[in-house]
Amino acid sequence: MPMHNISTDLDQALALLRAGELVGIPTETVYGLAADAADPAAVAKIFALKGRPADHPVIVHLAGREQLADWARDIPDDAWKLAEAFWPGSLTLILQRQPQVPDAVTGGQDTVGLRAPAHPLTHELLRRFGGGLAAPSANQFGHVSPTTAEHVQAEFGDRLRLILDGGPCPVGVESTIVGLTGPQPALLRPGGVPAEAIEAVLGRTLVHHEKPQTAQMRVSGLLDSHYAPRTPLLVGPLGALENEAYRRFESGERVALLHRSQMLAAVCGAECHAMPLGAEDYARALYATLRAFDGGRFDVLLLEQPPQTAEWLAVNDRVKRAASRFIG
Ligand code: TXA
Ligand code: MG
Repeated sequence: MPMHNISTDLDQALALLRAGELVGIPTETVYGLAADAADPAAVAKIFALKGRPADHPVIVHLAGREQLADWARDIPDDAWKLAEAFWPGSLTLILQRQPQVPDAVTGGQDTVGLRAPAHPLTHELLRRFGGGLAAPSANQFGHVSPTTAEHVQAEFGDRLRLILDGGPCPVGVESTIVGLTGPQPALLRPGGVPAEAIEAVLGRTLVHHEKPQTAQMRVSGLLDSHYAPRTPLLVGPLGALENEAYRRFESGERVALLHRSQMLAAVCGAECHAMPLGAEDYARALYATLRAFDGGRFDVLLLEQPPQTAEWLAVNDRVKRAASRFIG
C-alpha cells in the first residue's frame, strides 16, 4: 500500500487547506478529515470523500477559546467555564452559530459544534491556519473511526493528498459532545472527557439524551450503523461467547474472541485476544483492535461486554453502535 501521502509536513498541510483541499489530521481522540470551515466548497469535499449525507453537521476545530466568539453567538457562561476547564481537549460544545458559519458545516441548523483539540501537531496547525477546520472522523461513513495515520490511509488511499502523522491517538474514542443551546446542558455523546468531570465544573447534572436506536433493535445493514467493523460483531458475557465460539467453530467458521479475562488461555477453535482491563486503555485500543480483526480473516468477532459502570460510558456507547447483536 503506498504511504507517500503520510507526512509530518505542516507547511504542506497549510498550503493544501488554504487551497480548499482536504487533509487528514491527528487529534487526541481520533483522526479527522479536515477542510477550511469557512469555505463551503472545501467542506463539500469532506462529504463527497466520506460518502456522508450532506445534512449531517461537522465539528469546527479551533486553536482555542479566543476564537469561540468568531463561530458562536449568545455564548452562555457555561460554555466559557467548560472551554476554560477542558480546552484544548476532547470536549465539543454545541452553541448558537454566528450567521456567517456555512450551512455546509452546520447541516443547515442554527447551531455549531466547536472544539479545540489537544494534539500538539494539530494545535500548531490550527494556530498557524488562524481559522476553523471542519473535521469529522476520517473514515468512510458508518465505519470504525481511525486512530493512526495508516488507518486513514486504509480508508481513502490516494484520494487524500496528505495525512499528517501524529502517531496513535492517546484517547482513542471521539470527543464528549455537550449541548448548551437548551434550557439545561445536555450530554449528546459520551466521549474523551467523563460526564462527571463536566458536571463538577458546571455544578449541576447533565441531561442525558439517549438516541432511541439500540444495537438490539438494529438489523444489520438496514438501520443506521456507526463505528462498525464489516465483520459481524457479537457482544455478550464471556460464558455465552465461549459457547458461541465453540458452536461456530464446529460449523466451520473462523472465530475471534476479544475478552477481558486474565485466566482464559484458549477457547477451542477461536483466536483469543486479551483486551485491556482499564477503561482508558480499553478506549485507546478499541478501534485499532476492531480494525486489526476486521477485513476478512474471521467470519465473526465475539467481544466480551465491558463493565456497565460510569467510567465505561463512552466505551459502552461505541461497543453498542459497533455491535451487530448482543447475545446471552
Ligand atoms: O473527537 C471528535 O469529536 C472527532 C475528532 C476528529 O474531532 N470528530 C468527530 O466528528 O467525531 P464526527 O463528524 O464523526 O462526529 C461529530 C458529531 C456528529 O454526531 C454530529 O451529529 C455532531 O457531532 N454535531 C456536530 N455539529 C453539531 C450540531 N451543530 N448540533 C448537533 N450535533 C452536532
Ligand atoms: Mg465519526
